[in-house]
Amino acid sequence: MKLVFVGLGKMGKSILKGALDRGFLRPGEVGVVGRTPERTRELAEAFGLRPLALKELAQAERVLLAVQPRDFPHLAPEIAHPGVGYISIMAGVSTAVLSRRLDTRRVVRAMPNLAAVIGESSTALTALREAREAGDLDFARSLFATVGDVYEIPEHLFDPFTAMSASAPAYLAVVAEALADAGVKMGMPRALALRLAAEALAATGELLKSRHPAQLKDEVASPGGTTIYGLHALEARSLRAAFYEAVEAATRRGHELGEAE
Ligand SMILES: NC(=O)c1ccc[n+]([C@@H]2O[C@H](COP(=O)([O-])OP(=O)(O)OC[C@H]3O[C@@H](n4cnc5c(N)ncnc54)[C@H](OP(=O)(O)O)[C@@H]3O)[C@@H](O)[C@H]2O)c1
Repeated sequence: MKLVFVGLGKMGKSILKGALDRGFLRPGEVGVVGRTPERTRELAEAFGLRPLALKELAQAERVLLAVQPRDFPHLAPEIAHPGVGYISIMAGVSTAVLSRRLDTRRVVRAMPNLAAVIGESSTALTALREAREAGDLDFARSLFATVGDVYEIPEHLFDPFTAMSASAPAYLAVVAEALADAGVKMGMPRALALRLAAEALAATGELLKSRHPAQLKDEVASPGGTTIYGLHALEARSLRAAFYEAVEAATRRGHELGEAE
């Protein structure tokens, strides 16, 4: 079995789907282990896979750990097998902690984001030397390439990456909701306001692929026009400072979660 997924929530399921849809893995090469037997069986059937018991994990070449960090400490002793390579997407759990709890140095740490659901994740990767030598990092690079772009970064940047990139869909969803609410206040029907806000975010994301943010802003904000008045109001409310603080707070929280280990 090339890869066994432990944890089939939002993220585990998206990565599984990407790997199968893009042909990186065939159903016969994949096993799944979930917590709720009923749900796991349903999911395994839907994807044509075999649900596995925890004790069968020793047959796996590699394991993808997609459970919540709080579930890891009691799960680790049950899934630790010599000769297996581990790829974790758990926020805040360092390669040192993974290595200690799983009793192996074949560990890869990954940080995707929710856009994996639509194949548009930005995923960070890092790995211990033994995992690189065993081909685990190359495997992880190909796996996460099925759900978006992949960046290899040093481990000290993982908490900032998590705070900036993995959390970004939540920050931007709040921006979209706030923009829609503001439209509603000005009399716009709710459904239309939500749709316009989502479309504006998606289109801006596309435009930003080929221009600097400042250039885009300047192209919209004509002298003495409506947008520059709106921008002034946002600056008066310290929008930029709010983002600095959000990313700083989320980075700190990542450190805390890691230290709790
Ligand atoms: N959501 C994000 O945007 C995001 C982004 C990057 C990284 N992450 C990381 O990805 C991980 C998963 O996040 P998620 O959003 O996919 O969480 P989730 O939807 O809560 O999924 C976690 C899954 O783990 C399963 N699980 C728990 N204990 C288990 C056990 N002992 N054996 C097997 N399966 C078990 C749960 O099963 P049940 O459903 O049966 O309880 C659930 O399906 C987290 O560590 C998180 O830090 C999340």
